[in-house]
Amino acid sequence: MRVTKAVVPVAGLGTRFLPATKAIAKEMLPVVDKPAIQYVVEEATAAGLDDLLFVTGRNKSALEDHFDRTVELEESLRSKGDTERLALVEASVDLARIHYIRQGAPLGLGHAVLMGRDHVGDEPFAVLLGDDLIDPRDPVLAQMLDLQQRHGGSVICLMEVPADQISLYGCAAVQPQGDHVIVTDLIEKPDLALAPSNLAVIGRYVLDPAVFNVLENMPPGRGGEIQLTDALVQLAAMSAVDGGGVRGVVFNGRRYDTGDRLSYLQAVIQLALERDDLGPPLHAWLVDHLEEMKGDR
Ligand code: UTP
Repeated sequence: MRVTKAVVPVAGLGTRFLPATKAIAKEMLPVVDKPAIQYVVEEATAAGLDDLLFVTGRNKSALEDHFDRTVELEESLRSKGDTERLALVEASVDLARIHYIRQGAPLGLGHAVLMGRDHVGDEPFAVLLGDDLIDPRDPVLAQMLDLQQRHGGSVICLMEVPADQISLYGCAAVQPQGDHVIVTDLIEKPDLALAPSNLAVIGRYVLDPAVFNVLENMPPGRGGEIQLTDALVQLAAMSAVDGGGVRGVVFNGRRYDTGDRLSYLQAVIQLALERDDLGPPLHAWLVDHLEEMKGDR
């Protein structure tokens, strides 16, 4: 069965970005000049996922507005003949069929995914997190969907990270298997000494619907939250006939982390430097600015 649905959780509190995220979801923060979530939606549709369920929290109105028409703004741009900006405004509207459900309380990523149960039904589906932006030149989601089609079960995305960063992520124990790995265990944000590898779980998943039963019956884990990582551990131990089995794609393409302030700033600068319109002047300014700073020391 071809995967067409994706669950996109956007109900986290975004505490690392306060006060910016007091009234808007962190997924709405601009990365250069587009909200992070638009990159994610574009990535999903490029991989053939055209039915998206946003799991929202109290900050959903800006998200809904962004993917909806803005008649007044469009009229104003049209009357001025500003077709370039009009195209930018319209670009987010017809990207995908977007549905919304409220999480109620932010009880964890696993709980947010469980909110998708009725919409998804009994078919495999993707989960995309707005924290991780994947460069469209390195389409890992298509690779993950292909792996899921070939073997069934669930597929996660792994990335090698430096040892001092592994405790910021879910970490996977794996066995190599041709072009991918079999996931045998996962630990959420382990201390370095307990980390089974340097493979971090990043925010792309293709999940078997068996995950819903697992999540429903799972007690809160680390931080008192229902953790998706804990559900994946159970799926990894289950047999294939029950929807179990977790495979991993080891991604070594371009990824931009927008989850905390420093990595967000780095992502914005990196992506802006790649742009034809902003890259050259930003680069020149950065070089001058760094030179000036050296002089001030
Ligand atoms: P994070 O842990 O990165 O998001 O969750 P957060 O809790 O909003 O961030 P901080 O640590 O407080 O700054 C990963 C993803 O899961 C979503 C978040 O919106 C983010 O996309 N999420 C998390 C939910 O939708 N609901 C939750 O209960 C928790």
